[in-house]
Amino acid sequence: MKKMSGLLFVIITSLVLILAACGTSKTNTKEEKNGSGGEEKKTLRVVTDAAYAPFEYQDKGKIVGFEIDFINAVAKEAGYELEIVHVGWDPVFIEIGQKNADIGISSITINDERKQTYDFSLPYFLSTNKILVPEDSDIQNAADLVGKVVAVQKGTTGDAAVEGILGKNHKDIKKFDDNNLAILELINNGADAVVADNGVIEAYAKNNPDQKLVVKGDGTTFDAEYYGLLFPKGSELKAEFDVAIKTVFENGTYSEIYNEWFGMDPDLETIKAEQDKQ
Ligand code: ARG
Repeated sequence: MKKMSGLLFVIITSLVLILAACGTSKTNTKEEKNGSGGEEKKTLRVVTDAAYAPFEYQDKGKIVGFEIDFINAVAKEAGYELEIVHVGWDPVFIEIGQKNADIGISSITINDERKQTYDFSLPYFLSTNKILVPEDSDIQNAADLVGKVVAVQKGTTGDAAVEGILGKNHKDIKKFDDNNLAILELINNGADAVVADNGVIEAYAKNNPDQKLVVKGDGTTFDAEYYGLLFPKGSELKAEFDVAIKTVFENGTYSEIYNEWFGMDPDLETIKAEQDKQ
């Protein structure tokens, strides 16, 4: 009997411990003991569309890229741990809109339309839309896209830019949930061109020489764009991350990461001038 109650005690204690471990918190941020100093470090849920190399993509099951290194450096500065999850392009906006996630990072261009629904960090990356075409294509600029079939990632600034040229929901615009599928459509001759962020299509053309693709720019039609971190409206994290972004720009970390991924120095003056406008 004595033996029995001892066993029962062990079972009940284990059950209580297991149940306690299963307890879920309603917030996205988990408090965690930081091993070293014992001070609290929160883990933020970061959502991304990891199909946009070299900014964010999956390599052997791991999410990697320029923006992953960037946000890790910024979060370290701000004193947060991150849990970065690939959810897809539309879900990034849905999760942030529903406050299911703390930060969205996905080469997201800051624009007035999005600002109505979300908050953005300071701008941290300069980009523009460009046109990816086969080497022997007669497309030289944005106006040449008229009468052609153009593949884009749905809901991106590339999609909006092509709608501006061909017309809203024009039948010749093929829209994909994933930018890699848009590029695949071009390779499979289902489209004449892809319009997307220069960093992505320039890297693709360079890394896939056998596909014989080239990139055409059009500075008069396609605006300069700046990427920002996406926050739920009113998020208190924005202020903290803005300070941390400034720090990684000032202390050289940003340039170091940029150099690692793009093999050149960033245009710090232009980006900082845009930060100062905010
Ligand atoms: N910069 C463009 C935009 O904000 C495209 C971004 C697409 N990002 C991605 N991870 N698929 O609309």
